[in-house]
Amino acid sequence: MEYDKPQIITFDKIGSSQLGYITIAETQKNVPFEIKRVYWTYYTPHDVTRGGHAHKALHQFIFAVSGTITFNTEDKDGSKEIFTLDHPTKGLYIPKLVWRDIQFSHNAVLLCLASEVYDEEDYFRDYEEFKKTTDKG
Ligand code: TYD
Repeated sequence: MEYDKPQIITFDKIGSSQLGYITIAETQKNVPFEIKRVYWTYYTPHDVTRGGHAHKALHQFIFAVSGTITFNTEDKDGSKEIFTLDHPTKGLYIPKLVWRDIQFSHNAVLLCLASEVYDEEDYFRDYEEFKKTTDKG
C-alpha cells in the first residue's frame, strides 16, 4: 500500500453469516498511523453534502459501518476520484491535502480514525485557498 493517494482498502473480517462478523483496525497493523482521535457522524440527510474541506497534515481511515457513503476527492495533484464505501470491511485511506465532498445514504454511519487531535488550524475550508497552496507544489 502506498500512502500518498486516497484509496479503499478492504479489511479482513472474522465470523460467519450465522454468528455475525468483526473487523479490526489496529495501529501499525493495518492503520499506518497512531490513532489519536475517533469520531462518527450519523443521521445526515440524503440531500446534504458534508466535508467540503482538506487537511494540512491529518490523515484518516474512514469506514461506513452502516449504509453507503460516497466521497468525491481531489488530491494535491488535481486528480479527482469517486470512492464508494458500501460495506463495513471497506476503509478509505485519505492522506493529507485531499479535498473531499461526502454524501450519505439515510442510514449511513461514518466512522473516522484520525492521526491527530482536532485542530481547526489544520483545515482548508476554502477550496480556492486549497488550490492555491497545492498548485505551488
Ligand atoms: P467538520 O470536520 O466540518 O465535519 P464534516 O466534514 O463531517 O462536515 O466538523 C463539523 C463540526 O464539528 C465543526 O464545527 C467542527 C466540529 N468538530 C470538532 O469539534 N471536533 C472534531 O474532532 C471534529 C471532526 C469536528
